[in-house]
Amino acid sequence: MAVAAYLSYGAADSAAAQDIARELEAHGLPATLAAVDRAQAILDARCLVALVSPAADADETARRDLAFAIANGKSVIPVHLAETPTEGFGRVLEQHNRVDARNGLSNPVLTNIVEQVRTFANAGRTIAMLNIKGGVGKTVLAANVFAAAHLELGKSVCFVDLDPQHNLSQYFLPPEERNRVRADAMTIYSVFIAKGPLSTPREGFTRMPVQLNRTRGLGKQRFDLVVGDERLFEFTLDGRTERERADAMSRFHDLIAGLRAKYDLVVIDVNPCATFLTRCAVTASDHIVAPVRPEKYSLTGLNMLEQVTREIRQRAVKSSEFTVLLNGVADRPRTRNGYDVDQATREEIEAAPFFGAALIEPAIPYTTHLRTTPIDKYVVNPISLTAMKQFAQRMLKESLASAAIDIIKRAGA
Ligand SMILES: Nc1ncnc2c1ncn2[C@@H]1O[C@H](COP(=O)(O)OP(=O)(O)O)[C@@H](O)[C@H]1O
Ligand SMILES: [Mg+2]
Repeated sequence: MAVAAYLSYGAADSAAAQDIARELEAHGLPATLAAVDRAQAILDARCLVALVSPAADADETARRDLAFAIANGKSVIPVHLAETPTEGFGRVLEQHNRVDARNGLSNPVLTNIVEQVRTFANAGRTIAMLNIKGGVGKTVLAANVFAAAHLELGKSVCFVDLDPQHNLSQYFLPPEERNRVRADAMTIYSVFIAKGPLSTPREGFTRMPVQLNRTRGLGKQRFDLVVGDERLFEFTLDGRTERERADAMSRFHDLIAGLRAKYDLVVIDVNPCATFLTRCAVTASDHIVAPVRPEKYSLTGLNMLEQVTREIRQRAVKSSEFTVLLNGVADRPRTRNGYDVDQATREEIEAAPFFGAALIEPAIPYTTHLRTTPIDKYVVNPISLTAMKQFAQRMLKESLASAAIDIIKRAGA
């Protein structure tokens, strides 16, 4: 099996780190204690166990490991060996899954760590739908490609609507239901807000997903959504303090860590542009799916995406971390003056040095089933409105399913 955990610790805590690594190995969970290429070792591990203490807080390398893991979508298990420092390490790691080891590494504490690492080693993958360009089909393909993953491939899926425009939530749920979730302080906004009546406590995060598939016998696994909220726009401007943003990011990571322990796939629908929300999504994700329309400037949006991701991840990124999905093909006569736009776009992306290797063969056709913005009164049994249920549209259904298969493979799910 792949490396289950990377252990990050201050030099003074190395004995504790060795005890934990030994216990993990004894349970068939290989752990990395030290590595020459630390960044690669962290990328290769399914999670990071951070030993939290003043020694770690003062240790430059441990701090860097932690920041790198967080920027690269790794779930973190904070093990508190001592009183938590209130800044730095301590605050970043204020997670609901933290392990209290202040009284030493007793057997129950070690068992707790082993169980958490096991959960993360087997956890689902997080996929962000992202393109700096808007209107390319991020939302409608999130809904329909992953409905295919659910219905055809039997995957459990949880969507997280991180776009202040919350089109994905509108796509699936009627306004009354969205308002009810909002009144209960159970939308994504209540994750981003750390204090006060609008905030949801971290322990409540795993109760946030709303069930979308309400058709009995249709898909055995869960198909759920953490509902979006337009107030999230407060986090796209500079209206919030740095402290509030740091809390929001830490709470968002906590939400995602909890969800990936429960679902095969966590799918984040993101706003276009590059904002703090983009940072939250990228840092929580293992893989990025970028839909592109067959048009002249599609490569510009993709190149921006590579730049933004590299900046956020603090390292060079690889093509294998992305899937480019051509969307809306064949919506016009096949050729215009001998020029086929679909084919030309495909060839242009294939020839691109970075994204050529990320483009998958399946393409999603342009069709009225995906164009529709469902009329609210019909959004009663949400999944029946996704194109996946339009069995007449065989070609669409097949393209969604084969895109889902390729994405899941590329995401390592
Ligand atoms: N393959 C398609 N066929 C028909 N309409 C589509 C297709 N893909 C997207 N659309 C429509 O294009 C618009 C933009 O798509 P959307 O998913 O909202 O983009 P984004 O989330 O990237 O901004 C929506 O009205 C959607 O219904
Ligand atoms: Mg959208």
